[in-house]
Amino acid sequence: MKILIIGNGGREHAIAEALLKNKKTECVYISTHNGGAKDRIINAELTNHNIETIDEFLAKTQIDLVVVGPEQFLSEGIIDHIQSKGIKAFGPHKAAARLESSKAFAKEFMEKYQIPTAGYFRYDNYDDALTGLPEFGYPVVIKADGLCGGKGVSICQNEKDAVRALTDIFHNRIFGNQGTEIVMEQFLSGFEASLLCFVSGNKIYPFDTAMDYKKIYDNDLGPNTGGVGCISPNPYWTVDLDQQSNQIIRQIEKGLAQEKLGFTGILFIGYLIENGKLYVLEFNTRFGDPETEVLLPRLKSDLLTNIMQAIDDKPVELDFAANVAMTTILVSQGYPGKYETGHEITGLDLVDPDILIYHNGTKQIIDSSSDQKTKIVTNGGRVLSVVAVKENLAAARQAVYNNIDKIHFDNMSYRTDIGKIIEIYKN
Ligand code: GLY
Repeated sequence: MKILIIGNGGREHAIAEALLKNKKTECVYISTHNGGAKDRIINAELTNHNIETIDEFLAKTQIDLVVVGPEQFLSEGIIDHIQSKGIKAFGPHKAAARLESSKAFAKEFMEKYQIPTAGYFRYDNYDDALTGLPEFGYPVVIKADGLCGGKGVSICQNEKDAVRALTDIFHNRIFGNQGTEIVMEQFLSGFEASLLCFVSGNKIYPFDTAMDYKKIYDNDLGPNTGGVGCISPNPYWTVDLDQQSNQIIRQIEKGLAQEKLGFTGILFIGYLIENGKLYVLEFNTRFGDPETEVLLPRLKSDLLTNIMQAIDDKPVELDFAANVAMTTILVSQGYPGKYETGHEITGLDLVDPDILIYHNGTKQIIDSSSDQKTKIVTNGGRVLSVVAVKENLAAARQAVYNNIDKIHFDNMSYRTDIGKIIEIYKN
């Protein structure tokens, strides 16, 4: 099989490596460029990275399966488009992708199917939203309705912050047409858990759990990022939470069936656990990043087989190893704000053989000091996921940080407390 993965980050690199474990996989194309591509992982180097260039590639290459990473393409209906050409595609159709691309749609779905979530109101104009502010007190959560590159959620500590967020969305239009409506939501406090699930029609098959670290600095300080560390399983997950989650999943299945939203792909349930009770914070309809980098190395079942089971509407037989995976992401200093790129990465050849390196934002370039060779340079905010899979969290944590010491690039930065859970959550 020839497989095209749309997207080029650490998530896509981890998916590519997992797909190559199946002998039927001839090669995996990454749609643009991943600096970790080698052997049977091939960079397709699609320019402009849009439906037209993807179409051209599909026309000239006999692709058997397309797997889509980023939410933007899914919300634009790329799955419907590819399937209409008779090519197998793994991901939600446009209508189901709204569970991620419209916060208001997702909240209505949750409310209608009695899925526990924070209380909320929807507003489509500034004046009405202002009158809603006293309902929840502070902090209050304000979410722009559409996909806003991960920047659409504001946790407002006081009225001044909330008015600023509303002004930015409704008057300054900082999210363009993605912010014509908002969800105003009660603030919940606790810890988060990521649960990715296969969806096959209306049936949901959960993965093991994960815990994402979203803040850029140690001790959960600083601005939110796309995720700069992750562990799996989530150390706070309990049998009781698992039972609550299974009930929630049954409700989601009911909703998918009744709303005719069944699809083939991934549903990522973003949970918040407050005082032992699960709430759904959000849905994503794609693999998480960096969750994928710690979940797939623990997958004992075969990813391609699982994807084909979902596509063929068969039960998805997932199996996870009873071990622990952890990743710390090396980032370019300045991320999630401005950062430099183009710095050479060294030391990757020195890491232990059982350490996995997924490339989030890197590039292979010709090394001008040697005619034949290439070198790898930084090409993004998140640069490399350093992953260890061990018998317990302490061993995984030690292996990740021992190996990070061997890697270098200018302006390299990373959190030193991933996996040090007691310290982070004791307050
Ligand atoms: N790690 C969160 C996400 O993928 O959206």
